[in-house]
Amino acid sequence: MLKCVSLVAGLMAFPVLAQDKAFSLQVPQALVDTGFPKHLLPRFSLKSGVRITVTQDPADAAFGAEGTPVFRQGDTVWHLARTEGPYTDAFQEWLLSDVGKRTIEAFAPDGEAMFIADVSVRETVQEVDLTGDLELGEQISLQSCGRCHVINEKNRMNAIGSTPSFGLLRTFDDWQYRFESFYVLKPHAAFTQVDGITEPFSASLPSPIAPVEVSVDDIEAITAYVGSIAPADLGAPIQSQ
Ligand code: HEC
Repeated sequence: MLKCVSLVAGLMAFPVLAQDKAFSLQVPQALVDTGFPKHLLPRFSLKSGVRITVTQDPADAAFGAEGTPVFRQGDTVWHLARTEGPYTDAFQEWLLSDVGKRTIEAFAPDGEAMFIADVSVRETVQEVDLTGDLELGEQISLQSCGRCHVINEKNRMNAIGSTPSFGLLRTFDDWQYRFESFYVLKPHAAFTQVDGITEPFSASLPSPIAPVEVSVDDIEAITAYVGSIAPADLGAPIQSQ
């Protein structure tokens, strides 16, 4: 049933045939291959009486990178994009409902849920880790980086305005790479020591400004913390005050 690509999309345009409760859904092959759609869609149809035809072509609705986040597979968040209509609306509502979420998480071919219904990744990470790394990461960031960078509200006024805020740096796609290697990136190399990684400053050539000394664990904590903060809204003047 799921494989059949019907003319439903075309028919939907005609109100006279609207009693055919159905819509078409574009599902990328990668998602089809997991077997998940065959678990998910019939269960929705059972509850709602709405039939979904799965296709690889553009359709009334689509699972992909755009639209409303609906479930997560590892680091990938799947979204539902849809043309509005009673059936596509019902589908989205169902996916976000408690029943829908339970159905999503009930798919566990290897005994472990392959898809997670909680798509608020950042909030989750923060809730889970706040007592550990993130708190330490915030503390070290404020202490070691905060005299130049705006870390968050707490040091907003003290940092050097021309230095990018952590919230701004967080907007770069490669923010993580930058934070993991900041000590070799300008301007830090001249004043930063990482335990066991960088050469000690030469005694005859003291660092011109108060050195930053961190450990590999500190860098991990800082990176975890930066991962938990919201990327700056580029429209807002967060970088300087
Ligand atoms: C003495 C001031 C100062 C301190 C202390 C400092 N930074 Fe920076 N940082 C800068 C400046 C200035 C820039 C912008 C460099 C540029 O735009 O080329 C920067 C840029 C960065 C970047 C982006 C680098 C790039 O090339 O994209 C990262 C990541 C970063 N800092 C992390 C840190 C971390 C983590 C700490 C604390 C452990 C820290 N910084 C401490 C001044 C500082």
